[in-house]
Parts: sequence; C-alpha cells; structure tokens
Amino acid sequence: MSAKGIVFVVLTLCASSVFSRMTYDCGEKLLGCFCGNIYLDGSETKYVVNCTNQGFTNVDMLTDIPIETEMLVFVGNNIPTLPWNIFGDMNKSVNLKEIDMSNNNIMEIKGKAYHHVSTVETLILNHNNLTISNKGDENYHHPRMFSNFVNLKALHLTNAFADNTGDDLADDLHDIFMNSGLDKLYKLHLEQNEIKSFRDQNVFCDLPNIRDIYLADNYIPGLNFNISCLKKLRFLDLEHNNITKLSQRELESLDWMAPPHVEGTLTIDIRRNPLKCDPATKTLYGWMQRTNVTIRGKESIQCHSAKFGTNHLINLKTLAEGKHATVSKGVTVLLVILVLVLISLISAYVYLSKDKLKNKLGPILDKVTRKVQYTTIESQAV
Ligand SMILES: *[C@@H]1O[C@H](CO)[C@@H](O)[C@H](O)[C@H]1NC(C)=O
Ligand SMILES: *[C@@H]1O[C@H](CO)[C@@H](O)[C@H](O)[C@H]1NC(C)=O
Ligand SMILES: *[C@@H]1O[C@H](CO)[C@@H](O)[C@H](O)[C@H]1NC(C)=O
Ligand SMILES: *[C@@H]1O[C@H](CO)[C@@H](O)[C@H](O)[C@H]1NC(C)=O
Ligand SMILES: *[C@@H]1O[C@H](CO)[C@@H](O)[C@H](O)[C@H]1NC(C)=O
Ligand SMILES: *[C@@H]1O[C@H](CO)[C@@H](O)[C@H](O)[C@H]1NC(C)=O
Repeated sequence: MSAKGIVFVVLTLCASSVFSRMTYDCGEKLLGCFCGNIYLDGSETKYVVNCTNQGFTNVDMLTDIPIETEMLVFVGNNIPTLPWNIFGDMNKSVNLKEIDMSNNNIMEIKGKAYHHVSTVETLILNHNNLTISNKGDENYHHPRMFSNFVNLKALHLTNAFADNTGDDLADDLHDIFMNSGLDKLYKLHLEQNEIKSFRDQNVFCDLPNIRDIYLADNYIPGLNFNISCLKKLRFLDLEHNNITKLSQRELESLDWMAPPHVEGTLTIDIRRNPLKCDPATKTLYGWMQRTNVTIRGKESIQCHSAKFGTNHLINLKTLAEGKHATVSKGVTVLLVILVLVLISLISAYVYLSKDKLKNKLGPILDKVTRKVQYTTIESQAV
C-alpha cells in the first residue's frame, strides 16, 4: 500500500470513530432520542440518553437503552402511570447514575417501577402530578416505591405532587422513606408542594444520612417536624413559607443541632416568611445574635406589621432597637408635613383675600399711625 493509501485509511478511521461517538445509534425504539457522550461540568463526559419532549406516552423503549448509559434524561413526555420494572433486564442499567423524569405528568409510580437501579445516585421527578395516598378505592400508596435505590444520594421532588395534596402527604412520605431504605440519601428537595403541615412529626427520621432538606415555597407555619432525629442535618431551607413566629422550644431544638452539641454546623434559611413584628420576633432577633446556627441572609430578614390597614415590612434590627424610634420618626415627619400644609393654607388665604384685608386693616393702621403721631407730638410738647 502506498503512503497516500495509508494516510487515507488512517483519516477515514479517525473520522468514523469521531462520527460514531457523536451520533450513537439509539435504536429503532428510542427514535428521536439522543444517545452519546456529552461533556457535563466542563471536562467530565457522560454517556447520556436524552429523550426530551418526544411525545412518548409509555416507557416501553427504556428497556432498550444502551448498556453504557450513565444518565437518562426523559422529560416533557406524558406518562400518567409508571409501570413495573421500566428498565427490564438488569444488564441495561448497570452504569446508570442519574435519572431525570421531570415534567412527565406522572400521577402514579407502581411499587416496583424502578428495578435494577442500585447504581443510581440522583433521581429527579420534579414537576409531576404524583399521588401517593389512597383515594377511595384506588390504591396509589406504594410504600416501597423507591426501595431499589439503595445508593440514592439526591432525591428531587420539587412540585412533584398533585395540587391540594392534604396533610397525609407527610404520613405517606414517611411510610415511603421508612420502607424504601434510603440509607445513603443526603439531599431531599420538596419545594413548591403546597405543604401546610406535617401531621407525622417524624417524617424525615428514617433518612439516617440526610444532610440537606429543601422545603422552600411551601406553607409550613413553623418547625412542625422533628429535627432532633436528623443527626447529620446541615441545611434546612424554609424560605418563603408561612412562618409567623418561632417558639422558644423551636429555637432550642435548632440550638441542639449546632455546636457545641454536634460537630457539624447547621444553616437555616427563613427569609421571606410573614414573621409578625411582635415580642416573639424580638426574641427571635435576640436568639439570632447568640445562636451557633448559621442564618442565611440574616440582615435581610423582615417582619410584617399590619398597621393602619397596610402591610409594613420592618427590618428585625429596627424592631429590636425599639418600636418607639420608628414611631417618633414617623410622627416627626407627619408633624413637619402638617405644619407645611398649614403655612401654605394661610399664605393662600392671605393672598386670595388681600384686597379685603387691605380694606379692613387700612383704617386700623391709619388710626394707629395717627395715634403714634399724636403721642409723639404730645411728648414733644412737654
Ligand atoms: C436534552 O435535550 C434537550 C433538548 O434537546 C436539551 O435542552 C437538554 O439540554 C439536553 N440535556 C442534556 C443533559 O443533555
Ligand atoms: C447479564 O450479563 C452477565 C455478564 O455480565 C451475563 O452472565 C448474563 O447472562 C446477562 N443477563 C442477561 C439477562 O442478559
Ligand atoms: C393531576 O391529577 C389530578 C388527579 O389526581 C387531575 O385532576 C389533574 O387534572 C392533573 N393535573 C394535570 C396538570 O395533569
Ligand atoms: C424526635 O426524635 C427523637 C430522636 O429520635 C425522639 O427521641 C423524639 O421522641 C422525637 N420527638 C417526637 C415528638 O416524636
Ligand atoms: C398562613 O398562616 C395564617 C395564620 O398563621 C393562616 O391564617 C393562613 O391560612 C396560612 N396560609 C396557608 C396557605 O396555609
Ligand atoms: C456556641 O459555641 C460555643 C463554642 O462551642 C459555645 O461556647 C457557646 O455556648 C455556643 N453558644 C450557644 C448559644 O450554644
């Protein structure tokens, strides 16, 4: 073979290997999906199967994902019910680390839907329409729903549940956590789920390694769940809930989760809550100055004061330094404005009726001047 021939063969081989890596054949069933290595977070490449917005109404094709698959992105389809064993035989998912099934309108996950997922570390089920409670005769409660995720580290359930999910969400979640053995889970997202309260206080107690609990954008009115059982808790996100006050007991239970009682630090986020501007919140401010719990955005926390029919936001520091300061400041401003208004009213009156005044005051002034003249004359005459 000539040198030219060798160069040609080498070039063709290079080109074909690059080509095959970029457009791996997903197979007939996965038509429309992307399969191949992509760069994630800069330098790391992952083998991704990406079936975004493909209009799938079942998950039959998932039994055909390539063995190399490390990340499955299956979002924006329409799968009301996830059936049993979506990946079929176990050799299909031996490399799977992350599953994203957001936005699929999923209402029910059957108890054994996820089989052969022992390698998966991240499961994302955001923006679905899940029901996990029994409704009438329908059984939607599958306590072992996540039981095969023995290595799961992060579970994302942001806006995952159907609207108007009642207080029993906590009971059912606890049951699922208890029966699924999520011993390695350290990050749990439950934002935007309209959670009002946890009827079951020990809802998170069966997650022995939980470190970060995200509960922002719910309607939680306080620390109405047990945190003393969460030995590794590191971050508790309660931003934008319905907390009007935190009781002494709740503050104490937070203190118990921070040094010197535990080794690690605890950070909480309680910004954007409707805290009342009352003595309890003054106590909260005092606690915030003393505690070893880190409070995110401490300076920006405000309380709500509904005075004179309008809602005022007051910085906690201002509140703690005494309401009188703010009141007297307000009164001063009001007084200055009133005085200014009074002065301008008088000026306007004087200006508008200046002729009348001249007519009325003219003779009086005349008399006065004359009198003065007389007296001067008289005094001079003496
Ligand atoms: C999956 O595909 C969608 C649409 O093509 C794209 O927006 C998204 O970034 C992809 N995700 C990944 C992880 O590659
Ligand atoms: C899965 O792979 C193993 C070897 O890695 C093989 O022995 C087994 O037969 C495979 N199972 C199936 C159902 O293909
Ligand atoms: C969510 O499920 C409920 C029934 O549980 C249904 O009434 C509702 O229409 C569903 N919402 C969406 C956006 O599909
Ligand atoms: C909270 O958890 C702790 C530790 O597991 C336990 O001792 C305590 O009884 C629990 N509190 C409630 C109210 O269940
Ligand atoms: C928020 O709390 C207030 C009183 O504490 C209560 O009246 C209101 O219903 C709560 N809002 C929601 C959405 O639960
Ligand atoms: C904060 O930690 C220090 C050192 O560990 C300790 O002396 C102090 O009592 C703690 N403060 C509170 C309020 O627990």
